[in-house]
Amino acid sequence: MTTVSGSVVRDPVALRAAMVAELGEDTIRSQAVAAAFSVVPRHLFAPGEPLDMVYDSNTPLVTKTGPDGTALSSVSAAHIQAVMLEQAEIEPGMRVLEIGSGGYNAALIAELVGPQGAVTSVDIDPEIVARARACLQSAGYEDRVRVVQADAEHGVPEHAPYDRIIVTVGAWDIPPAWIAQLSEHGRIVVPLRFAGLSRCVAFDLAGGRLFSHSYCLGGFVPMQGEGTYSETLVPIHGEATLRIDGPDPGFDVPALRRAVHAPRTERWSGAAFDMPDELELFVVTSAPHVPFLYASQQLVDQGVFTPAVTYGTAAVVEGGSLAYRTKRENEDLGGWESGVYAYGPQAETVADRYVRLLRRWAADFRRRGAARIEYLPTSAGVPDGWYVPKRHGVVAVSWR
Ligand SMILES: C[S@@+](CC[C@H](N)C(=O)[O-])C[C@H]1O[C@@H](n2cnc3c(N)ncnc32)[C@H](O)[C@@H]1O
Repeated sequence: MTTVSGSVVRDPVALRAAMVAELGEDTIRSQAVAAAFSVVPRHLFAPGEPLDMVYDSNTPLVTKTGPDGTALSSVSAAHIQAVMLEQAEIEPGMRVLEIGSGGYNAALIAELVGPQGAVTSVDIDPEIVARARACLQSAGYEDRVRVVQADAEHGVPEHAPYDRIIVTVGAWDIPPAWIAQLSEHGRIVVPLRFAGLSRCVAFDLAGGRLFSHSYCLGGFVPMQGEGTYSETLVPIHGEATLRIDGPDPGFDVPALRRAVHAPRTERWSGAAFDMPDELELFVVTSAPHVPFLYASQQLVDQGVFTPAVTYGTAAVVEGGSLAYRTKRENEDLGGWESGVYAYGPQAETVADRYVRLLRRWAADFRRRGAARIEYLPTSAGVPDGWYVPKRHGVVAVSWR
């Protein structure tokens, strides 16, 4: 049961106001986005769901699951919708394509573009298209949002160009159609998976390439259709795996499996543990083929692995040796200190290399937004620095 100022509230209008106020504390920055969230009745896009869940800004409302229980569709959490709409900086009169439909986010976009703008939402799943259309109708947005059924791999050329493309499904790549259908100086906001994590990146188009304007951690249900992707998972100990993005790096997997059963080497960096997602990006982009180590909660509870963050941590691997990042309490550093556990015949080497990276990040890049993420379509060639190949181009990251 949701309470506002100590009393129980069941009125959607009051719950909506409370949600907007909560989002306004650190997520919503603009008047326009606040106004959109204030007027669109979110509960009409989640009929039958408890109101307190509907108006909890961190709760996605799953609308379809696959045979294995994986969520295939949802009305996304209001928090991530607000983050992405702020990243998009949508203005009145713009033409916007939303990839992945639920109805609610498209209605928010319709508020932002106003009567002179145009909103197209595309979903691969006919059931979701029908559901989104019905919800938009019940909320009075049926004439302000066009819902199309198609695989978004090819965009929606018949209504292009778009000033903004907002992708609300996990993407592993950026298909050429999205770039081709973007207007000059347009922006794509996309939860792009690379190097082990999914980040919502706002990319601006310039000269056929995409340059990050902002980015933050954020995941979505997986892409279906032609853009389906899968990472390479290398089990190294029970349910602990190395997740590898890009070509096979040729690790000595049998040696790594032996190494993690032997005693470990420990190093402490003297650097504060904070902004783990930013630090992780720095470590994975410090060299080609830095995988992500994920360990199950059971292995963490048993003390077999103690990664710094439960969603996984970058691992520095060389041959049959591996180092990963951990943390310990350190009041002098404001709470926590980053450190490293390392295994294998070259444990000292990989531990030292990792600790140097932690110190370098702390000294030079310990702030939000220090990375510059670029997407280069295949025709644009490859950059000089770090990049990971995708199907239609490369994602490149540099630091400033
Ligand atoms: C998280 S939901 C969309 C949420 C929605 N924008 C909202 O208002 O909250 C993601 C949607 O992407 C759709 N999807 C997955 N792969 C797709 C593809 N290749 N093309 C278009 N839609 C796709 C799924 O069917 C699902 O409905």
